[in-house]
Order: sequence, then structure tokens, then C-alpha cells
Amino acid sequence: MQIFLDTADYKEIKDRYETGLVSGITTNPTLVRKSGVSYHEFITRLSKDFDFVSISAEVNGNNADDMLQNAQQYIAIGEEVTIKLPLTKEGLIACKILTEQGVKTNVTLCFSAAQAAMAALAGATYISPFVGRCNDNSFSGVELVRAISGLYGVQRCQTKILAASLRDVHHVSRCFLYGASVVTLPTKVFDKMYDHVLTDAGLAIFEEDFKQLKE
Ligand code: G3P
Repeated sequence: MQIFLDTADYKEIKDRYETGLVSGITTNPTLVRKSGVSYHEFITRLSKDFDFVSISAEVNGNNADDMLQNAQQYIAIGEEVTIKLPLTKEGLIACKILTEQGVKTNVTLCFSAAQAAMAALAGATYISPFVGRCNDNSFSGVELVRAISGLYGVQRCQTKILAASLRDVHHVSRCFLYGASVVTLPTKVFDKMYDHVLTDAGLAIFEEDFKQLKE
């Protein structure tokens, strides 16, 4: 069971890394555009400053050759760098080639168990079902995670489920329960994972009682 952060904000990452509970980072072009940094510099800095098992860098390109070419700049950064590819025919071709070269891959934008089966056949290290976007489109994201987990279990696939597009803690625990090995979270969802109003209330009572304990 691992938590990755889904952000391109260096300060947010550094702050949560200090908890010792974050194992990796996922990024995408939207997050990097919003943060205003250079994509390559950002991935390089993460690789240098932290000890993550995986840092996903999404590649651009209309065909597998372009994706593979685009991937080279990130592969050179470090072995934890994980090439993020779209779940398309061309993305799967690129995935198979990178897998054969020993490069980690994250096949993203998955919305069906059939797509997840194809990613496993292409040797993907991670498959990323987009839980929140399934829910946005009136089908259950956590049920998709459960379906992929069942399929991978029966077929003994090595590909790990990396549940993405998570927006609340309830869905995070469901994803773990239904077989996701990894969840990737915006920092505000990560922070809510340990916050609970009843913990705060209980702590306030204990603090008062501590003050009244006899020496
Ligand atoms: O990891 C995927 C994520 O960045 C997409 O999240 O909330 O835009 O669907 P969202």
C-alpha cells in the first residue's frame, strides 16, 4: 500500500515528504502548466532532492515514435522516473517497447477493465484508472478499480493499480480495499487522510485531563 502525490508544486511535496508517508509523485501537463515550471527541470529537481520509488513524467506525441523520443529526456534523469503514456494504441506500443528496455511505465487515462487488460499485456508497471472522472460521467470509479483488481488477480498480472483522479478520502480507502496498490492524491486529500474531527475533540479532552494529573 503506497501513497503518491498528484501535484507539480515543489513546496507542497517537500512539506508532505517530511511525514515519511509519501512514496512517489505523479504529474501531468495540466498540473505542470498551472505551476508554471519547466517540466524537465521539475522532474530533475524531484529526482535529485527526494528518494521516491516512482516519479511519473507524461510524454507528448501523436504516435509511439514521438512518445519514445520525448521519453528519452526523462529516462536519462533516473531509474525511478516512470514514463506516463496514454491508454491508446500508440501509447501501448510505446509502453511495450519501454518495458522491454527496463523502463518503468504508467499507462494513464484508463476508464475500463478491457483497457486495463491491454495495459497489462503491454507490460505496464502501473495502470491509472481515473476514479473521479468515472464518477463525473455517471459510472463508479471504485467499481472500476474492483473490476481491474479482480481481472489482474485471476490472470496473475504484475501491473499495479495506481488509482488516480481521487478527490475525497472515502474513495481513497475504497480504492485500497478494492485492490489498488497505490493511490495518487492532491495534497489537500492527503492532508485529510489523517485529520478527523473526533480525533481533535478527543485530544482536547485528553489535554485537559493531562493538566489535572497529579505529579
Ligand atoms: O492523476 C490524475 C489527476 O491529475 C486528474 O484529476 O481531478 O482532474 O480528474 P482530476
